[in-house]
Amino acid sequence: MLTSDEVKQDFPIFETLGDGYAYLDNAATTQKPRSVLDAIHNFYTSQNSNVYRGIYRLSEDATDSYHKARRNIAEFIGSGNPDSLIFTRNATESLNLVASSLGKGLRPGDEVLISIMEHHSNIVPWQLWLPAGVKLKYADIDSEGHLDMESFQENLTGRTKIVSLVHESNLLGTINNAMEIGRIAHDNGAVFILDGAQSVPHMPVDVERLGCDFLAFSGHKMLGPMGIGCLYGRMDILEKMPPFLGGGEMIREVYRDHSVWNDVPQKFEAGTPNVAGAIGLSAAVDYLRSYGMENVRSHEKRLMKKTFDLEQEAGIPELISYGPRELENRGGIYSFNIGKIAPMDLESQILEESSLKIGSAVHPHDVASSLDGDKIAVRSGHHCAMPLTHRLGVVATSRASYYIYNSESDVENLFQAIANVAVKYHER
Ligand SMILES: Cc1ncc(COP(=O)(O)O)c(C=O)c1O
Repeated sequence: MLTSDEVKQDFPIFETLGDGYAYLDNAATTQKPRSVLDAIHNFYTSQNSNVYRGIYRLSEDATDSYHKARRNIAEFIGSGNPDSLIFTRNATESLNLVASSLGKGLRPGDEVLISIMEHHSNIVPWQLWLPAGVKLKYADIDSEGHLDMESFQENLTGRTKIVSLVHESNLLGTINNAMEIGRIAHDNGAVFILDGAQSVPHMPVDVERLGCDFLAFSGHKMLGPMGIGCLYGRMDILEKMPPFLGGGEMIREVYRDHSVWNDVPQKFEAGTPNVAGAIGLSAAVDYLRSYGMENVRSHEKRLMKKTFDLEQEAGIPELISYGPRELENRGGIYSFNIGKIAPMDLESQILEESSLKIGSAVHPHDVASSLDGDKIAVRSGHHCAMPLTHRLGVVATSRASYYIYNSESDVENLFQAIANVAVKYHER
């Protein structure tokens, strides 16, 4: 297995950023290896033409590369059928596609069950069906940030038609037991959708083994380019689903008053696709495969262990962190606060002598900007999971998230910088 320093050599951006830069915002987007940049460059310099439409060599080559990318990515997530993989712009569009299309079959009183730890992209597309009388229910979390299975069971009823769940939480790092939840959902007759935006990049994911009906993920969070994402779906369900967007490529025939849909996956890919994006994502998949997804997972476990050890050693009394402590159920995501700012505190604007201190805490935005001064990139905010931040009783958190080019010394730098912010806070 390559060391993180060896991995870094494959990523030109780290030459630009210089030594000692800790990029710890991988849950938002990851950096791109040279092989991905080259694959995109090669497409535009040797194959650029529109797919499907051309009866000439260049277009046939582009179409062939696009098909190969689809097959490669489908195999990466354990699907033997390339047609089960639909290209979208990102995980958000994948979830919108499935919510929009499946939602058309829901009746007033039907229920969709999600959890309180969802990203907005697995909440809002379902909320769009509320005016049609569909009920949206939330399974809660327990005090450690695991999915509360009692709450899940209580919210599952005879009217639950869809269970849609995040595989790994982008705020808590919690890894949900997708196989068990899928089994319960199916026993209840519900369709089971998995938001794999944070799991597919970080652990082996196999749709056949997990038994999910749909899996959504984004290319840019797994070393691929922005603007390409995927939706895996079970063929028998996809074939019955109405289209999402209308236009070219998704039709077989168009008449004045009706159209005949193309086969899956084209039925769900209206318009010119992001061919270079698909080819770039396929190169990213090759990179991850050669590193080994088990190795990605074990590397991140090691970094999380270091994180918890340093958190304990640092002994910063105001430091609060979120999510399960057992590494088995925890991805490489560390959300924390220096003191707690409840939503009410901000509303009443309890600002003390500077913006660094609100009530008895340091605002996560101030934490992130202070860390930026130490060449550490972390995210701060609600991480597109506002119902979860409110459930945790805070307005926001700071979040460090790891990937294969991060090292234990990045984690050491992080804790040194957090300690500096806490000291600064004490001085005020
Ligand atoms: C768990 C989860 N789901 C969905 C998304 C949406 O991904 P994208 O913005 O690439 O569509 C994210 C992005 O952070 C995420 O973390």
